[in-house]
Amino acid sequence: MTAEYKVMGDVAVITLSNPPVNGLGFSTRVAITEGLSKANADDAVAAIVITGAGKAFSGGADIKEFGTTKATQEPNLLSVILALEASAKPIVAAIHSVCMGGGLELAMGCHYRVVAPGTSIALPEVKLGLIPGAGGTQRLPRVLGVETALNMIVSGEAVKSEMLAALPGQKLFDKLSASPEALFDDAMQLAKSVAGKTGDALPLVRNLPCKHPLGDAYFQFAKNMVGGMSKNYPAPLKCVDAVEAATKMKFDQGMAEERRLFTALMFTPESLALRHLFVAERAASKIPDVAEDTPKREIKSVAVIGAGTMGGGISMNFLNAGIPVKILEMKQEALDRGIATIRKNYEAQVKKGKLKQDKYEQRMALLSTTLSYDELGDADLVIEAVFEELGVKEAVFKELDRVAKPGAILASNTSTLDVDKIAAFTQRPQDVVGMHFFSPANVMKLLEVVRGKDTAKDVLATVMAVAKKIKKTAVVSGVCDGFIGNRMIEQYSRQAGFLLDEGATPQQVDKAIEKFGFAMGPFRMGDLAGNDIGWAIRKRRATERADMKYSRTADKLCELGRFGQKTGAGWYDYQAGKRDAIPSQVVLDLIEQHRKDEGIAPRKISDDEIVQRLVYALVNEGAHILEDGIASKSGDIDMVYLTGYGFPIWRGGPMHYASQVGLFNVAETMKRFARNPRDDASFWQPAALIQRLVAEGKQFS
Ligand code: NAI
Repeated sequence: MTAEYKVMGDVAVITLSNPPVNGLGFSTRVAITEGLSKANADDAVAAIVITGAGKAFSGGADIKEFGTTKATQEPNLLSVILALEASAKPIVAAIHSVCMGGGLELAMGCHYRVVAPGTSIALPEVKLGLIPGAGGTQRLPRVLGVETALNMIVSGEAVKSEMLAALPGQKLFDKLSASPEALFDDAMQLAKSVAGKTGDALPLVRNLPCKHPLGDAYFQFAKNMVGGMSKNYPAPLKCVDAVEAATKMKFDQGMAEERRLFTALMFTPESLALRHLFVAERAASKIPDVAEDTPKREIKSVAVIGAGTMGGGISMNFLNAGIPVKILEMKQEALDRGIATIRKNYEAQVKKGKLKQDKYEQRMALLSTTLSYDELGDADLVIEAVFEELGVKEAVFKELDRVAKPGAILASNTSTLDVDKIAAFTQRPQDVVGMHFFSPANVMKLLEVVRGKDTAKDVLATVMAVAKKIKKTAVVSGVCDGFIGNRMIEQYSRQAGFLLDEGATPQQVDKAIEKFGFAMGPFRMGDLAGNDIGWAIRKRRATERADMKYSRTADKLCELGRFGQKTGAGWYDYQAGKRDAIPSQVVLDLIEQHRKDEGIAPRKISDDEIVQRLVYALVNEGAHILEDGIASKSGDIDMVYLTGYGFPIWRGGPMHYASQVGLFNVAETMKRFARNPRDDASFWQPAALIQRLVAEGKQFS
């Protein structure tokens, strides 16, 4: 049963019990209405208390029902709330821990509410591109006032119960308990004190007035503010519309308006993308052949090898999570430099008021340094972030194999090298794994967890749990050149190069893809990361994969020493100390000369073509990555691009986006690109997986 029913004295207690957060799935809804009927039919019952078992009152909709017909199957949440309101006996909600979304809407359908301090209260639907759909937009303004309610609905953020209970005139809570332990007794007492009330004597939120003294002016102001801040997302403005309706319409009309707005949002690409992201994020932590209850190794201390750009950022993640870190370097100067950078980063946060001085000191106290491998014997997890050369990695992993305690996890942050080769430098390949952080490692959310052929399942399970602890989005990748993210970005960059050959300029390409929503176009990105990195990779490729075709423009740029921001010039010019990308005549001339050398007559290229070639290049390579088993599901690829590569969130990642466009259309466009003689025809053959899905009328998601 997903809700328990028992009678205590003359009070019936309905306890939601659908772990982990008492989601209001179909069976829970049925159990609530059954409990209500029983209580109303039982003469021995004078009042009803509704509460939640375990860690929540209710977290709202049941995510397992997302997008299924179960979500709306009767009794749907609206009907349950109507049944609560219609109860002839008073109902008291006893709210604790978490009360969100549908959970809060349910509580507002009860006659009375008692809350424990520390409870998180929210209507977070906007984060899924929706508005609350079971009366939240109509009832919350009635109990908290229009402005507070609108702030909560538009932001979706949680507010603590004691803050809301302290608002003058609030009607959300009838009582704030002194402690969570006192909650149940308080609710029972309130229930007893109102026992016997019935009909009009029972207060209903729907009957409360709802007005803003400034009326239209306030809502105009709210729309200007919200519209300006949410340009790619339709839901926040609809939240304003719904709350405005609450102030202008009769309650039932307002409810109908809320439903109309909610239903329209359900099918917007933005909401589909955000809901996909929500599900994909949770699914990414699940590895098909690693059971969720796999025992994990305990990680109480971490060692980091190399105090460079990555080593420093990686260390900060663990310090932030309260886990001690010991950094090893070859020379004291390198250690000093690394520690100074970590200090500088923390001090900047303190200055901005984002970190308290004592927290900063606590974190630094967890950090120690060494020049000797013999001091690493205690570490539960070692992360290597030394130079990207196999020989250097070999020396490091042989030393780690010598000194690390049995069972320690040995991770490499390599971005291009073969994790299986690195594992083979040790006698314990089962303990070796890739942990590919992104720069700046203390900021970027993405962590690619690279699974070697021998990596043990408990090592993977442990690393996924560690990732959660340090607040990263971890995605598992198999071993291949570039793993998921960089393997795909190479195809995207190659297309960017071909576009220059054929007639586009760097700024046209950047502008088009930035308009699509990428944080930064490929050329601005190259200038930021350093064009020399790609140059080195292409030089290596020239021997390894000589058949791979590239535009020569990037090489010619590097031959001029234009590596990007760090050399003051790249695809764009830069003024000293500034990051603004200024279109460069030198580069335009270089590209024009290149076209002449290659005998290419430039053509006008549309922004649509630019976006399609860049994005579909990601999609086709992503499909190959799925075929090769490097990623286990398309949602994982989307997570990589959303959290590590600046793909627009509201488009849900490349694979989700392709599914929205329709794989049939995507495949047809790829075939058209394959006929372009300047492009790479073999690359544009739609991946077998795409062809199969098209034939079956299916999409990735
Ligand atoms: P870096 O050059 O900034 O730092 C490397 C550090 O390792 C230096 O401080 C060096 O003194 C130290 N080191 C070299 N050999 C060592 C040894 N035998 N023992 C101890 N310390 C040693 O390099 P960065 O950028 O931090 O890269 C490190 C690793 O992270 C590489 O494998 C790289 O491919 C990978 N990576 C780099 C990213 C980036 O954006 N920079 C992103 C993701 C991964």
